[in-house]
Amino acid sequence: MTNPQPETSARANKAPEETTPSLLKFNELSFSYADDEVLRQINLNLRAGEWMGVIGPNGSGKSTLIKLMGGLLKSSDDSILFRAKDIQSYSRAELAREIAWIPQETSTPFSFSAYEMVMMGRHPYLKAFRFESGEDHAICDRAMEITSTTEFKTRKFSELSGGEKQRILIASAIVQSPEIMLLDEPTASLDLKYQIQVLDILKSLNRERGITMVLAMHDLNLAAKYCHRLVLLKEGRIVCDGTPADVLQKDIIEDVYEVKVQILKSPMDGSLLIFPESE
Ligand SMILES: Nc1ncnc2c1ncn2[C@@H]1O[C@H](COP(=O)(O)OP(=O)(O)OP(=O)(O)O)[C@@H](O)[C@H]1O
Ligand SMILES: [Mg+2]
Repeated sequence: MTNPQPETSARANKAPEETTPSLLKFNELSFSYADDEVLRQINLNLRAGEWMGVIGPNGSGKSTLIKLMGGLLKSSDDSILFRAKDIQSYSRAELAREIAWIPQETSTPFSFSAYEMVMMGRHPYLKAFRFESGEDHAICDRAMEITSTTEFKTRKFSELSGGEKQRILIASAIVQSPEIMLLDEPTASLDLKYQIQVLDILKSLNRERGITMVLAMHDLNLAAKYCHRLVLLKEGRIVCDGTPADVLQKDIIEDVYEVKVQILKSPMDGSLLIFPESE
């Protein structure tokens, strides 16, 4: 696998300092689909360079939170600030140049090639009725190298495997040159090798390009290993927000997931390992 070339000074693998500017801020956000309130009193401050994992049971509000962060869902008031300004004051194209969103499920009605899918990430930069430039093609080629997808260039996106599609979607997000990447369960359908491959690509982008990462995740062991910060949701509320060691505590996890667990430390890198117990 090719690693991304550093574009900014190399970053240490740790959470940014408290003084790092806020990128996204939620102030007492509540959100409803029709009459059904699914997020309640969310206060959150996402700083540049962070790697945040959003965890919680099915239906707890992870995807909804991530869509609100990307401006894909709109709150009814000005409770979400992007760079200290109401997120709703930005145009769709402005946000797309700053925030890339990779959804939980992707289906395309048309038979795009993998390369066309990657090039779609350049759309926020293309002027109307203008063809892609040599520079746009070079950026896409580089993103496909980073994600080891060059060999799929001419294949139909719809015919790729889950792991191959996921890497194409990451390439498409990379060419957006975003400040923030929002990924909704990016490793859910992947085998062990692809899980690590995808997370290692994201880790390089976070460390070497300083891209802020927000990932919804179900795998608590991978969340513990890769994330600097975890936000744990239960029934639309944040129950805990802190380092993996703050959040992945036996009593908290047992309460939220309603299952007994054992929590151990990995002998390899000291990250936490969570084992559910059967009755
Ligand atoms: N478009 C929608 N219309 C109405 N209700 C919705 C919609 N999308 C989600 N919901 C509801 O909002 C709640 C939160 O859903 P969300 O998809 O954010 O949860 P999640 O934590 O991502 O779950 P999962 O782990 O299953 O992906 C759920 O009760 C869900 O049924
Ligand atoms: Mg979801």
